[in-house]
Parts: sequence; structure tokens; C-alpha cells
Amino acid sequence: MDNKNTYWLKFKDYYFQSSLVDVDFLETLDDFEIRDDDVFIITYPKSGTIWMQQILSLIYFEEHRNGTENVDTIDRIPFLEYNLRKADFINRPSPRLFCSHIPYYLAPKGLKNKKAKIIYVYRNPKDVMTSYFHFSNLMVLLEAANDMEHFMKRFLDGKVIGNVWFDHIRGWYEHRHDFNILFMMYEEMKKDLRSSVLKISHFTEKELSEEDVEAIVKQSTFQNMKSDSKANYDAILTSELGKRTNQGQFLRKGTIGDWKHHLTVEQNERFDKIFQNKMKDFPLKFIWDINEE
Ligand code: A3P
Repeated sequence: MDNKNTYWLKFKDYYFQSSLVDVDFLETLDDFEIRDDDVFIITYPKSGTIWMQQILSLIYFEEHRNGTENVDTIDRIPFLEYNLRKADFINRPSPRLFCSHIPYYLAPKGLKNKKAKIIYVYRNPKDVMTSYFHFSNLMVLLEAANDMEHFMKRFLDGKVIGNVWFDHIRGWYEHRHDFNILFMMYEEMKKDLRSSVLKISHFTEKELSEEDVEAIVKQSTFQNMKSDSKANYDAILTSELGKRTNQGQFLRKGTIGDWKHHLTVEQNERFDKIFQNKMKDFPLKFIWDINEE
């Protein structure tokens, strides 16, 4: 069976980006040694990964908060399965921070001793799909889609990096008692960034002064991140990942409800039906619209 093409590589039923992933590393992932003070950001793609990287980096590194050190967030918080800049994970000083899109069943078994922390960021799947559609047409290493209809089919079938969105979030949520995990909602972060920062600092047991909190909130707003070359991934997208066009950025719109500009009434109804079917009895709530409470 064909388990690999330009865009994806299938490993244990999960799609990884084929040219960025190291299969030898995946083979050893289960035994990857976890330290008690490790922190992992876990997301389905396009749910706010780089946002959480920025917030966590600002919480953990005073030099980042104060602007006394010029380090890209990807170097402070590398991707576990896509080690773009070949960080030395083993000899990295503690605390180590990582981000990842892996499903729960590929998590290193050391994460189950419940000491290391996981922050799972989730976002309403219509906005995830919309963001992913644009990103797939932007990034060379992802399969482009002619239009939303094509992309929606692939997204719902899980023929994308990250597989089926419903399975990703359900998997992590249903196995939450196996891990030390905090669920953070993108839309809540958007609506009240300050409270979200406090929640994360509480979970990570990082004490912050009023001044620190102010600095973190300020530097992790959409507008500030967009113009911050350490945080906006522009250089990475242009060089390491590769763009199809000069237009388009990682920080695209950063809003709630952009799906309304991209889904037809029929597509929306079809999506709702599938959502209701797949997510019935699922306790986490979602916010689909900026005006929703
Ligand atoms: P949009 O494409 O809807 O704008 P990821 O990092 O998981 O790939 O997610 C990218 C999405 O998160 C993009 O969504 C991006 O704009 C959004 N994002 C990143 N930083 C943000 C911020 N500070 N505030 C709001 N949205 C942000």
C-alpha cells in the first residue's frame, strides 16, 4: 500500500508532512524520555499553535518578555515531530517546551506519569477548516485545494495532516485522565486574553507579576504578533516551509467566524449535520460567532 507521497506520510494511521518528519524519530517516539517539567502544546493544525507558543514562551522566558534576547519562538518551543532546526531535544536544558499535532495514541508513554504538562488548544472546526483551506493553498508542502468544496471533503474524510478533526479532539479529551492536561479554547483566548494568560500561568505554576501579565497580553495580541518577526513565522514560511505565493501569512485573520465568508448555506448545513452526529454527548462547548456568549 502507498503510505507516502509529496505531501503526507502515513505512520500508525496518522498523516504527517512527509518531507518534514523523521520516521526514525517516530519509531522511537513512544520511548521519548519525558521530564517532569516538560510542557507540550498539542493542537489540531490551525487551532492557534503559534499563538500558544508565543504565550508560553513569554510566560517562561523573562528575556522574551523584556525583549532582551532575540530568539524565534520556534527555537524556544520546537515542534516535536517536525524538528525543523534540528534542536537537540535530549540535551536541551529544562524546562523543555514543545508543540505537536500528534493524536493521543502516539504520545510518548512517559507523558502518562502525569507530571509533565500538556496544553491542548482547540477551536471551532469551521474556522479550523477555513484557516486550513487557506494555509493548504499557501504552503508548498501541503496539497492545495481548488475550492472549499474540495477541501471540505478532504477535511471531513481526514485526508489532511492531522487526520479527522473530530477524532483528534475526542481522542485527547476522552483520554484526558491519562494525562496532566489543560484544555484551552481559541475563542475564549480571543475574547479574554488576560484571563487565558492567568489560567495558563496557574496551570504551569509560573508566578507572574501584574507587569509580566501586561507584557504577555500585549505581546500576544494578533496585531503585535503579526509584526513581530520572532513570532509570526514569516521567515520560516518563506525559507524552511516554502510559500506558493507572496501573499498570505501564518497570521491571516485571527478572528472568530470567518467561516461565514467561505461556506455556502448548503455546506454549512452539511457540516452541522456531521458535527451533531459526531460530537453528540461531547461536553466541551464551541463558539462559532464573535457575538456568542
Ligand atoms: P486564521 O487563518 O483563521 O487567521 P496554527 O498556529 O495552529 O497554525 O493556527 C493558525 C491560526 O491561528 C491562524 O488563523 C492565525 O491567524 C491564528 N492566530 C495566531 N496567532 C493569533 C493571535 N495572537 N490571535 C488570534 N489568532 C491568532
